[in-house]
Amino acid sequence: MLRSSGSNKPPEVSGLKLRKLTAKDIPQIIAIHSAINKKKAHRRWIQKMVKDHLRKQEGIGYVAEKDGGVVGFIIGETKGEGFGLEKSGWLEVVMVHPRHMGMGIGHAMAHKLFQEFVKRGIRDVHTSVLWDAVDMLSFFKSLGFDRSPFINLIKQLGQDGEREFSP
Ligand SMILES: CC(C)(COP(=O)(O)OP(=O)(O)OC[C@H]1O[C@@H](n2cnc3c(N)ncnc32)[C@H](O)[C@@H]1OP(=O)(O)O)[C@@H](O)C(=O)NCCC(=O)NCCS
Repeated sequence: MLRSSGSNKPPEVSGLKLRKLTAKDIPQIIAIHSAINKKKAHRRWIQKMVKDHLRKQEGIGYVAEKDGGVVGFIIGETKGEGFGLEKSGWLEVVMVHPRHMGMGIGHAMAHKLFQEFVKRGIRDVHTSVLWDAVDMLSFFKSLGFDRSPFINLIKQLGQDGEREFSP
């Protein structure tokens, strides 16, 4: 579980506008994704991810606009009680275009998401991060996230003869 501190005030970023994510933002989200990953983004997968998000009542998404263009986006959602958790908020994806990183845009978007979580009665915010993504870990730590009591487990299918049991 990762708990947001909620105490850090986001820095003011001049000329920054945060607004709700819409389907019209998909091309710019794909461009940001491609710029970060330095390879062509999986257009279909991103389209589906954003559209699925927009359909969900529990979904919350914002984009950051600067000089008329989308320079970052954040997607989160709320989840009901379960798996030993009370109602919780999840920060699913956050990305800032490399040309605009390090200016406080990631923080501004995260705080906007946290404000909405608070309005929805959420106390704990969760996220997960690749263990060696030092930049992301540092970003989340700067937002007040800490180590969760949960551990993620993984199992590769096909190693224990699962296919033999298929009907
Ligand atoms: C992580 C990311 C969202 C941060 O956005 P940002 O606008 O650059 O971050 P901010 O300017 O708000 O940074 C806030 C703090 O986070 C930390 N931080 C951000 N980027 C960092 C980096 N590359 N290395 C180390 N710390 C970093 C710093 O503590 C920073 O505070 P400081 O500037 O006072 O030192 C952005 O760098 C990004 O999109 N990275 C790639 C994301 C990605 O791969 N997402 C996929 C999985 S969700």
